Amino acid sequence: MTPLFGHQGPVAAFRAALDSGRLHHGWLLAGPRGIGKAVFAENCAACHGAGGQGGPGYPTLADDSWLWGGTLADIEQTIRVGIRSSHAETRTSEMPKFGADGVLAPEQISDVADYVLSLSGTTIDRAVADRGATLFAENCASCHGDKGQGMQELGAPALNDSIWLYGGDRPSIVAQVTRPKHGVMPTWEGRLSDNWIKMLTVYVHSLGGGQ
Ligand code: HEC
Ligand code: HEC
Repeated sequence: MTPLFGHQGPVAAFRAALDSGRLHHGWLLAGPRGIGKAVFAENCAACHGAGGQGGPGYPTLADDSWLWGGTLADIEQTIRVGIRSSHAETRTSEMPKFGADGVLAPEQISDVADYVLSLSGTTIDRAVADRGATLFAENCASCHGDKGQGMQELGAPALNDSIWLYGGDRPSIVAQVTRPKHGVMPTWEGRLSDNWIKMLTVYVHSLGGGQ
């Protein structure tokens, strides 16, 4: 990336404040956040959008719904090791290919897809809902939670809200259960200095829903 000359002093002071756990709130808006914004534009916006708004397959970073966790520590870890990346300690998990591997038959996938739609409020047939609930409990809840609330340790998204990585219409859900897509986020350790990673963390945390 392009070096930002003239920021070395503030960077060191910011780093010391962050490491000591006494980070002043004003910093989030002025210096480091501004620097984080520039580093984000350079390295992250191509996938996550200029304001971190995301797009299909690329999660928004500007809301309070997190795949892998929204605390400063969670965000820093994600940036450092990536997701399904080449880093030895990468965050990773894999949704089974229920359709392609024949774990579920097409009519079972249809029932469970309707059940997933019902979690965010779509009205479905009672019999379908009963069958779908059983299929969900047996095949999906271990990762997505018993109410579809998601599980951050596994990067398994919530299915009971209106935020979708790959689309919340019926064909998109059927496609994901049949032959799942898995997002890849590069590792930045070794490519960006620890200072830049810390400032990016503060910037991303401030975008919307830092926890
Ligand atoms: C090549 C595309 C790409 C680039 C460049 C990229 N990301 Fe990502 N990022 C992704 C994808 C894809 C995911 C979601 C992976 C998944 O499905 O779990 C992701 C996930 C994340 C997450 C986790 C979001 C959550 O909900 O838990 C954070 C935080 C993040 N990226 C920050 C960054 C930052 C900061 C940069 C720049 C240093 C960056 N990303 C650059 C593709 C990218
Ligand atoms: C081993 C864990 C695991 C199991 C079991 C699992 N999933 Fe997933 N699922 C994931 C992960 C991880 C992702 C996110 C993939 C990514 O980030 O690229 C995901 C993504 C999804 C998505 C896309 C959500 C979105 O926001 O676009 C849907 C829909 C889904 N799963 C439905 C199901 C259903 C239905 C079942 C059961 C039949 C199931 N999953 C079982 C791990 C799992």
